[in-house]
Amino acid sequence: MNVDDPILSWPFDRATALTPPVEHAALRREGCPMAKVSLWSGEDAWLATSHADVQAVLGDPGFSSDPHKPGVLPSPSEAALTFWKVKGTFDKTDPPEHDHERRMVQTEFLVKRVRSYRPFLERVTDDLLDAIEAAEQPVDLVTMLGDVVPALITCEMMGLPPADAGFLRASLATFMSQASTPEQSAAAMTALIDYFDAVVADRERTERDDLASRLVHAQLVPGHLSREGTRRMLLDLLIGGLDTTSSMIALGTVLLLENPDQAALLDADPALWPGAVEELLRYLTIAQFIGSRSATADIDVNGTPIAAGDGVFASLLAANWDPKVFPDPEVLDVTRAPGKHVAFGYGVHQCLGQALARLELDVVLSKLFARFPSMRLVTPPDDLRFNRTTIHTALEVLVDVHGSHR
Ligand code: HEM
Repeated sequence: MNVDDPILSWPFDRATALTPPVEHAALRREGCPMAKVSLWSGEDAWLATSHADVQAVLGDPGFSSDPHKPGVLPSPSEAALTFWKVKGTFDKTDPPEHDHERRMVQTEFLVKRVRSYRPFLERVTDDLLDAIEAAEQPVDLVTMLGDVVPALITCEMMGLPPADAGFLRASLATFMSQASTPEQSAAAMTALIDYFDAVVADRERTERDDLASRLVHAQLVPGHLSREGTRRMLLDLLIGGLDTTSSMIALGTVLLLENPDQAALLDADPALWPGAVEELLRYLTIAQFIGSRSATADIDVNGTPIAAGDGVFASLLAANWDPKVFPDPEVLDVTRAPGKHVAFGYGVHQCLGQALARLELDVVLSKLFARFPSMRLVTPPDDLRFNRTTIHTALEVLVDVHGSHR
C-alpha cells in the first residue's frame, strides 16, 4: 500500500441503529469499492464494500482467517482479541485444518437434524411468550426472549441442564461487555472454560446422546482432538450462537415494528416468514465486524492488486446493501427474492449454525408477532444501546406487547 495516500479511519459508525454507515455507499459510488483504511489497531488495510469484491475476498483461498497473520482483526474488544489470539478453533484457521475440524461437528448442524428441534423451540417460545404477556409492561425483549432462546437450544443440543442457560448467558455477556474490566472479562472466560472442562470430563465418564458426548467419543477419545480443543469447540459453538441470534430476534422485531406495512403482509400471509427472515438478516447484517482476512500471496481482487501480507476487511454489511445486487437496499421488503445475501458470510467459513439460526428466527418472530398484534416499541431505535463487538449486539429493547404503554 502507498502510505502517502489519504486513509479513512475504519470502522465507520452506523448511520442509524438499523442502517449501515453512509461511507459504504459513498465509496461504491465514487468507484472505490476497495478502499484503503486505517484500522482501530492503527494498521492499514483494504475495505471491500461491493458484493462482488466481498465474495471475491471471502471465496479466495489466498486470504487467511488466522488472527496471527498481519491485518486480521477478529474483534475491536481487547478481551475478545486476547482470547481469540490464544488459539482459535476452525473459525480462525484455514483449510485444510479448518475443514478437518469443521467436519467434526458439521452433521450436528445439517438442516435435517436442526429441523428436529422445531417442537422444542416452539414449546420454549410459547412458554416465554406466556411470561412476557403476564409481565408488567414494558418488557425487555433481549433479556426475556432474545437471550433466552439461543441459550436454551444450545443447552438442548449439547445436553446441558437448561438451568445452566442463565449462567452461560451471564458469563458470556460479562466476557463480551465493553463495560467489563479486563479482570471481569477474564474471570467470566475462566468460569466458562472450567464449566466446559467439567462437561468434557463428565462425557468421558458417561456416554450420552448429545453433541458434547458425540464430540468427546468420536474425536477426543480416539485422539483426533485434544482435550483443550474439545472444550474450545463447545465454547466456540456457544459463543457463535448466542449474541448473534439474540440480537437478530431483538432488532428484527424493532425493524418490523418500524415497518408496519411489512408486518401487515406477514400477518396476512404467514408463509412469507422464511423470506422475511432472510430480508431481516440482509437488512441488519449484525455480523458487522466479521470478514477480516490477510492476503497470503499477491492477489488481484476484481482489478485491485492486493500485496501479500495486506489485511483486507470484507464488509458483509456493505455487500448486503450493494444496489447492484439488492435494488433499493434501504427498503425493507419481506417479499424480496432471497438467496444472495452474505449475512452468514461466504466461502469456507460460511456460518455453520445458519440452519439453526434461521429456524430460531422463524419460530420466535412468527410466534411473537402472531401473539401480540398490538405490540409497540417503547425504546425509539435512536435510543437503543449496543455493545460494539464483532456483532451489532442490542443490549435492551423495550416493547409493550399489549400496545398500551405511554
Ligand atoms: C443470526 C445468527 C447468526 C449470524 C448472523 C451468524 C453469522 C456468521 C458469520 C458472518 C460467519 C462467518 C465468519 C467468517 O467469515 O469469518 C459465521 C461463522 C460461524 N458461525 Fe454463525 N451466525 C449466526 C448464528 C450462529 C449459530 C446459531 C451458530 C451455532 C450454534 C453459529 C456458529 C458459527 C460457527 C461455528 C462459525 C464458524 C464457521 C467456520 O469458520 O467454518 N452461528 N457466523
